[in-house]
Amino acid sequence: MTNPPILTTDLHAHIVKAIDAAGGWLGFDQFMALALYTPGLGYYANDSRKFGLMPAGGSDFVTAPELSPRFGQTLARQLAQALEATGTAEIWEFGAGSGALALQILDTLGPQIERYTIVDLSGGLVQRQRERLAAHAGKVQWVTELPAQMRGVVVGNEVLDAMPVKLLNRLGGVWHERGVVMAPTLLTSSNALPPEGGRVSLGAAGRETHEGRFMFADQRTELRPPLEVEGQHDYLTEIHPQAEGFIRTLADRLQAGAIFLLDYGFPEHEYYHPQRSMGTVMCHRGHLSDADALAGVGSKDITAHVNFTGIALAGQDAGLQVLGYTSQGRFLLNCGLLDGMENAGIEERVMVQKLITEHEMGELFKVIAFSKGAAWEPMGFSAGDRTYTL
Ligand SMILES: C[S@@+](CC[C@H](N)C(=O)[O-])C[C@H]1O[C@@H](n2cnc3c(N)ncnc32)[C@H](O)[C@@H]1O
Repeated sequence: MTNPPILTTDLHAHIVKAIDAAGGWLGFDQFMALALYTPGLGYYANDSRKFGLMPAGGSDFVTAPELSPRFGQTLARQLAQALEATGTAEIWEFGAGSGALALQILDTLGPQIERYTIVDLSGGLVQRQRERLAAHAGKVQWVTELPAQMRGVVVGNEVLDAMPVKLLNRLGGVWHERGVVMAPTLLTSSNALPPEGGRVSLGAAGRETHEGRFMFADQRTELRPPLEVEGQHDYLTEIHPQAEGFIRTLADRLQAGAIFLLDYGFPEHEYYHPQRSMGTVMCHRGHLSDADALAGVGSKDITAHVNFTGIALAGQDAGLQVLGYTSQGRFLLNCGLLDGMENAGIEERVMVQKLITEHEMGELFKVIAFSKGAAWEPMGFSAGDRTYTL
């Protein structure tokens, strides 16, 4: 058997060191955090284009605000209602990507917003956002840490899916946490696979292989998915402590206001359905998807779907009220996405359809909203609210 290809990127070497420092096994959540956010090297920290319509432009995937400005213009109507209902005048956007959504919201809401604050882990993207939002420079600010107290309306599109997840793997009826180790250079029949239910032990040969490939290794854990998964079959899934911690932090800091989060995912009874036995971790590069998070680190996005029940419960337990939960298609229609569409050209119609049709972004993508303070009725959930499914 030939040696695995040697990966020599700085990020690879950085992760190898982290695995070493952790004693040879790194939880997948830590691996994902390093792959995406290592300063200067991780996928979201390097200079690659990432967002765009077509691979020819060097992008890896498209998000709703990149598809059509109508996305942000329509969401802005909801945000305007939220600002008024909560008596606040500031927007906080998490993970602003190329700045497309911020521009759409700022252009639409104008004087109703006193300040627009962006929080993004990616220094490279912040630079891009500064350039894109130059026309609104007086109103926009970037922060790297949240203040102890915030007032305003928080928005995040496709941020929760970019937060590191822990992998849990039920093997032979026993739950394991899946982590990452270095693959031995020379695989032999005796060390090619981890012992069942156990951890790969790196022997002398393994220790010599730090330029080699990453591989998964599972170790027994007390961690469990939030729902008992029916059956005894082998079952790989994720849990989302970081995304839930993020909601708790927001709940703690937000004194008055609302939160709108848009992303792909399901309620927990769908997330932990017995048939979803391969988990939801996906990678995106050049507008193609693959499930191999250990290959090509730093050159592709790694994501996992959102368990919206977990998000709702985390918010509720921390003092937020769930204002609504529905599909992106339903939410945008409720907010008047189609108003004035009779004058739209064919290209715009195609893009708007992608936002709402079930086989594109309309159904897999969901919107959840919270309030801090008295509840009110957001226009986005006026018909088809699915909070009862959470
Ligand atoms: C998939 S991109 C979405 C970008 C943009 N919202 C869009 O829709 O085009 C995920 C973004 O979330 C950011 N991000 C991930 N975790 C974050 C966190 N904890 N706080 C702030 N930004 C975060 C990433 O840096 C990146 O900009």
